[in-house]
Amino acid sequence: MRWLAWLLVSVPALADTGSAACAPCHREIYEQQRRSGMARSSGPVGDGLERFGAFRAGGVAYRVSPDFAVDFGKGTFAMRWYIGSGTVGRSYAGLVDGFLFQSPASYFAARGEWGLSPGYSTKPFVDVARPIESACLQCHASGARVAAGTANLYPDPPFAEGGVSCERCHGAGNEHVARRGPIVNPAKLAPARRDSVCLQCHLTGAARVARPGRGPETFRAGDLLGDHVMVFMWSRAGGERTATDHAEQLARSKCRQAAGEKLWCGTCHDAHAGSTRAAACLDCHQPHERGGADCAGCHMPKGRSREGEHVVFTDHTIARRPGRATGPRVMQPFPGMAATERDWALAERRLPLLEKLAARPDADAALLVQLAQLYDANGKGAPLYERALRLEPANATAMANLGIYRMQAGRAREALALWTRVFEKNPGMLAVGLNLALGHAETGDKDAATATLRRVLRFHPDSAQARDLLGKLR
Ligand code: HEC
Ligand code: HEC
Ligand code: HEC
Ligand code: HEC
Ligand code: HEC
Ligand code: HEC
Ligand code: HEC
Repeated sequence: MRWLAWLLVSVPALADTGSAACAPCHREIYEQQRRSGMARSSGPVGDGLERFGAFRAGGVAYRVSPDFAVDFGKGTFAMRWYIGSGTVGRSYAGLVDGFLFQSPASYFAARGEWGLSPGYSTKPFVDVARPIESACLQCHASGARVAAGTANLYPDPPFAEGGVSCERCHGAGNEHVARRGPIVNPAKLAPARRDSVCLQCHLTGAARVARPGRGPETFRAGDLLGDHVMVFMWSRAGGERTATDHAEQLARSKCRQAAGEKLWCGTCHDAHAGSTRAAACLDCHQPHERGGADCAGCHMPKGRSREGEHVVFTDHTIARRPGRATGPRVMQPFPGMAATERDWALAERRLPLLEKLAARPDADAALLVQLAQLYDANGKGAPLYERALRLEPANATAMANLGIYRMQAGRAREALALWTRVFEKNPGMLAVGLNLALGHAETGDKDAATATLRRVLRFHPDSAQARDLLGKLR
């Protein structure tokens, strides 16, 4: 049996006053914002949107009952929070032993039907082990607090406030609430900082590289996004649109390129209502003969809908003749962001550059782990994982993969210790659970192997490997 490798990142936390504190003095904005898709982008289940029912997928029958339990024969999944306002659809999250996972069932609100969650569709089996990683809640909720060293261990509830709170766009409001201290108004920020407020959630790009010790979760309104995370984009769009490529599209538009910072998301959108100002084009253009009043109807057509989590798309490249762009497609820094050698090395996994940077004494854990994973192919990753763990003792990828080297070197005790630590904090990591069980089995500890496999099966009820092994142990 081959030892299986694993890939992972993890994240710290933030806290805020909460939108309710703003209501007494900004009643109108508060009420308008609460109705927007953004404000309703996540929350506890039970807001009355869903009609309950059943569906089949991959030969499995699923039933969703009014208490938000998904029954899939081999078990049930309790849905506690929704993600997505339901304008198009919503996904759900629930805790299994304190770990937050995505429900296999999603609700496609437009059709009023349940179906398999995006990402599950390619799997011919049932599992509840798609972790809700922090990026997900970082965009859809406020004050999400994942435990360090884990992908998806959260307190209950997992976020301070559902949806996009006032303070995600205005920064911490405690001083302003308590004694009328200053508070960020995006419209008054320098353009790059203003734009960053929206980009924190509306830009994923071709690759994102967290600055050392930082990431999207350390960003606060008023900062430059590029100081927290470096974003690369493709020079032209590919075939498939995504939910978070509006900013990339706009960056490719002649309007933005020619008008510069005068044009931003706020030119056309009201951030509180999430609405669109149809007349915005006329700030800069005259109507023309062949056209009509519906400028966007011709120049920003709606894209084809793709089923799933991210569905509605309006073309934000604002082209003269909208259509598929052609020509070479290269990765480049998002306009206004400067890429370092480290950013390029991590974004493109460039071996020579990674090697050059890893040779420096100040190389960070992310870089070392990335290089180690490339070195795994020829079995030379161990010293790099060791170095990474001295810098970041809880790095799950480093522990998981170093365990494989230890096992291969006959140092089973050390391997098992590493895998035990990772698996305790990340029981959804199938590869680690299987390795740990195999390791226990090989060292003759049948009880520990059995217990580990039971836990693996709790998160992956259909794992053939786990069932096989369990069968052999009996
Ligand atoms: C006790 C009343 C009060 C509360 C509570 C309050 N504000 Fe204000 N806020 C004001 C007043 C009055 C102004 C306008 C005068 C000023 O700038 O002090 C203002 C101004 C603002 C501005 C404009 C600032 C600028 O420089 O243009 C923003 C943005 C703002 N508030 C957001 C918030 C947010 C977000 C919250 C909740 C975290 C909040 N406020 C809570 C009273 C309040
Ligand atoms: C980088 C930010 C970001 C991340 C990460 C992200 N989303 Fe989204 N998501 C968005 C935005 C922005 C939209 C709205 C897109 C639109 O209206 O076209 C959206 C839309 C959705 C919708 C449709 C909501 C509706 O309007 O009906 C669902 C469901 C959803 N996301 C679920 C998820 C889940 C589950 C995850 C994590 C596994 C996730 N998203 C990760 C930003 C993000
Ligand atoms: C998605 C981002 C976003 C969210 C969420 C948000 N705001 Fe704003 N807010 C803005 C932007 C952008 C402006 C500047 C609008 C302009 O002048 O163009 C603004 C302006 C303001 C202002 C000052 C200008 C005015 O219209 O009076 C206040 C007060 C304010 N927001 C309060 C709130 C409160 C209270 C909440 C939560 C209920 C909230 N905002 C949520 C983005 C946001
Ligand atoms: C904290 C993350 C976050 C920030 C900050 C944010 N958005 Fe959003 N935005 C979302 C998500 C998530 C959705 C999808 C909401 C849904 O339907 O579930 C969304 C949806 C929208 C929509 C579609 C209409 C709606 O309300 O659903 C518009 C327009 C929009 N955002 C504009 C903006 C603008 C402009 C800014 C900056 C001033 C901004 N957003 C900042 C996360 C964010
Ligand atoms: C802040 C100003 C501004 C706004 C708002 C704006 N544009 Fe533009 N747009 C420009 C500038 C500047 C150019 C470049 C003009 C030129 O090249 O002659 C441009 C170019 C264009 C082009 C030509 C693109 C091409 O491929 O050559 C189209 C079409 C267009 N805009 C449509 C729109 C539409 C439709 C809207 C509203 C949805 C809009 N613009 C909003 C400033 C703006
Ligand atoms: C019925 C579809 C349609 C509508 C509606 C429409 N346009 Fe156009 N637009 C076009 C076409 C077609 C072209 C010319 C393309 C070409 O000649 O290559 C064009 C060209 C343009 C250009 C490029 C410069 C030029 O004049 O050739 C701009 C800017 C523009 N439109 C802005 C707008 C604005 C602003 C509105 C709304 C007031 C609007 N359009 C409404 C179809 C439309
Ligand atoms: C030139 C005007 C313009 C600008 C600038 C603009 N948008 Fe839009 N946006 C639109 C129009 C028009 C729609 C379609 C609205 C509708 O159908 O109700 C739209 C729709 C959206 C939606 C809803 C989902 C979709 O694709 O239909 C999101 C999310 C969004 N915009 C985000 C952004 C963000 C983020 C920015 C800044 C990076 C931005 N927009 C800048 C005009 C603009």
